[in-house]
Amino acid sequence: MSASNTQSQTNDAVMPGIHQHPTQLSWLLVTEASSYALGVTDEGYLLQLYWGARLSSSTDLANAQLQFERSAQDSSLTAAAEVYPAQGGLRYGAIAAQASFADGTRDLDLRYASVEITEQEGLPTLHLSLRDAAYPFEVILSYRLDSANDLIIRSAQLINHGEEPVVLGRAFSAVWHLPQQFEPRRLTTLAGQWANETRIQQQPVVAGNIQLESRSGISGAKAYPWFAIDTRATEHTGEVYFGTLAWSGNWSLQIRTNITGGTSIEGGIHDHDFAWVLTANQSFITPDFVAGFAADGMNGIRHRLHRYVRSHVLPQPQASQPRPVLYNSWEATFFDVTEAGQIALAERAARLGVELFVVDDGWFPARNDDHAGLGDWRVDPQKFPQGLRPLVERIHKLGMQFGLWVEPEMTNPDSDLYRAHPDWVYHYPTRPRNEARNQLVLNVGRSDVQDYLITILDQLINEQDISFIKWDMNRPISEPGWPEYINAGHDGREIWVRHVQGVYKIMDTLRARHPNLSIESCASGGGRADPGILRRTDQVWTSDNTHPDARLFIQEGASYILPGRVMGAWITDTPSDRVRNEIPLAYRFHVSMLGMLGIGGHLIHWSEEELVEGAQWIAVYKRIRHLIQDGDQSWLVSPTETAGNWAAVECVAPDASEAVVLAFHRSNPFWENAPRLRLQNLKPAARYRIVEAGKTGETAAFELSGTALMNYGVQLPLPKTSYSSCILHLQEQA
Ligand code: GLA
Repeated sequence: MSASNTQSQTNDAVMPGIHQHPTQLSWLLVTEASSYALGVTDEGYLLQLYWGARLSSSTDLANAQLQFERSAQDSSLTAAAEVYPAQGGLRYGAIAAQASFADGTRDLDLRYASVEITEQEGLPTLHLSLRDAAYPFEVILSYRLDSANDLIIRSAQLINHGEEPVVLGRAFSAVWHLPQQFEPRRLTTLAGQWANETRIQQQPVVAGNIQLESRSGISGAKAYPWFAIDTRATEHTGEVYFGTLAWSGNWSLQIRTNITGGTSIEGGIHDHDFAWVLTANQSFITPDFVAGFAADGMNGIRHRLHRYVRSHVLPQPQASQPRPVLYNSWEATFFDVTEAGQIALAERAARLGVELFVVDDGWFPARNDDHAGLGDWRVDPQKFPQGLRPLVERIHKLGMQFGLWVEPEMTNPDSDLYRAHPDWVYHYPTRPRNEARNQLVLNVGRSDVQDYLITILDQLINEQDISFIKWDMNRPISEPGWPEYINAGHDGREIWVRHVQGVYKIMDTLRARHPNLSIESCASGGGRADPGILRRTDQVWTSDNTHPDARLFIQEGASYILPGRVMGAWITDTPSDRVRNEIPLAYRFHVSMLGMLGIGGHLIHWSEEELVEGAQWIAVYKRIRHLIQDGDQSWLVSPTETAGNWAAVECVAPDASEAVVLAFHRSNPFWENAPRLRLQNLKPAARYRIVEAGKTGETAAFELSGTALMNYGVQLPLPKTSYSSCILHLQEQA
């Protein structure tokens, strides 16, 4: 590699981009609002020199150097902010990589070798090569710079240039360092479980280690590969560092804080039960670790990650088109899927203004409950004697697209697929095959399994004229064995990565063959919602829990990772208990209108009044969906902070000429007036016309300046009754 492409910076005012220091081996990465710097010490170690608010000069930073060793127990390498510290030498802090060489040495000594600056995915990219001092082993670190969104996207390529195999025991994507400071920091994470996903958790950052992880084979619902660390930030002010891993399998994020307040975040594919063997001249590329800095509080994370996901991650052309309003039959009919029943629902859905009709589980042979059928992806002749064609044609005639549920990674022992290929599931010959939801996981790392799934799904998409697939994944991987692979001399611990690569390959192949196909990622709800899966899916089923009270919490957390166009949200009839009947349809619609609106209720049971009102709200949604799906989303009032009693969300057009505010008030035992709500991110000098979007039209038009809206605020038209909600639509006046 050469430095010939490097832009060298001689004057002091640095523009966004990658700048090499004029005389030292150091680089300054500059975005609109942040800077990140790294440099090489005299010994060849690559250190992070800075990360934070934007610097104005490329020469302000000191040269990279190790500190004096504090004591024999506190080595200078452990204290150093190495950008990719490898297991070896006197290192006892963050570790990015671990390798074992054929001679038994389990120690890496990586030193700077060369630099190159290129463009990747339209973004300037810094590549820094590190080489081991004694073995033919190289690591190339990549830094892609998304200047507009203050993001740095890092990955690493680990290369064995030798003849002897090298076994990787850890291959993380990156280590990030936050400087030592006296002020306390706070960590925000997203935790959850089935029907209770993406719940915001906050804790002080004190000396010690915090481990976030998934070991179930998918990115998971228990924890999300995402973090934010702030210093006294509010929703709209203060410094926040944040990051997320683009990986849909086992992952690890470790947040280490030392006794003097320095914090590092190391992350990547989990090293739990992980190994990757690099034979001669092979390399391993880690997933992306996207991280950023915001000085405008917690909503600054949403704005930056949403813009990045929309413009650099989601598949095109779908990411540039409005996401359709969908109907999904799951909660209406469960497994009782029939041609007549689905047509009746489709007719009502079309009347409401639905644009995509999705038949969920239960359409394939033997699928009358969750005991049988997974893997046999053909239409059940008993439920659909004439195939799916009459239903699909009716749906198309009604002006809707057709979508279908599948769960490709799974099989039931009671299926033709499993009877023909019992060796296709993960298993150890000496162990029972643990079932969960009566199903086993297919070994998607196998090329014959990949070929089977590509062929059968491709055929299904062609024959049934499918526009949309809901791709589900309803259980974790267990007994991760692959006897043939091990017998052929491979390391069985590779399966965790090979599974994810297999899923990606199948999705990528289907998308390449069907450029207009959309895919929804579902794993019993929002269990697989990371930027890795978002490269090949268009939306995520956020949670099986559609109760609006739960949903506000779940969606607040999910909105840290998912833009509105990705976050699937349905109106349903659940919970079908007493409470449901007390929640107005308008409130339930408004909660679901915060994302990609869907209907999941049993429309045959909806009254005429409910159908008319539903159609009205869908019409309102279509008028504002460009703001919800593609605007900058700010949670102005956090349900987490108000114990679910109040919430307000604002979505502002990229040019701030238009905005929408959705506000919610769950219960009001003290008959309080709603406080004035101060809006954000508007044009101060502009005048906005504000209307309340109601089911029978727009009411309460008034005008205010951006300054007034952001400082004096707006009185929310919320009555003092429980479950009141409103939608305000703001448009700049010429
Ligand atoms: C999972 C999904 C549901 C539904 C069922 C079908 O639970 O999260 O939305 O698709 O599977 O079996």
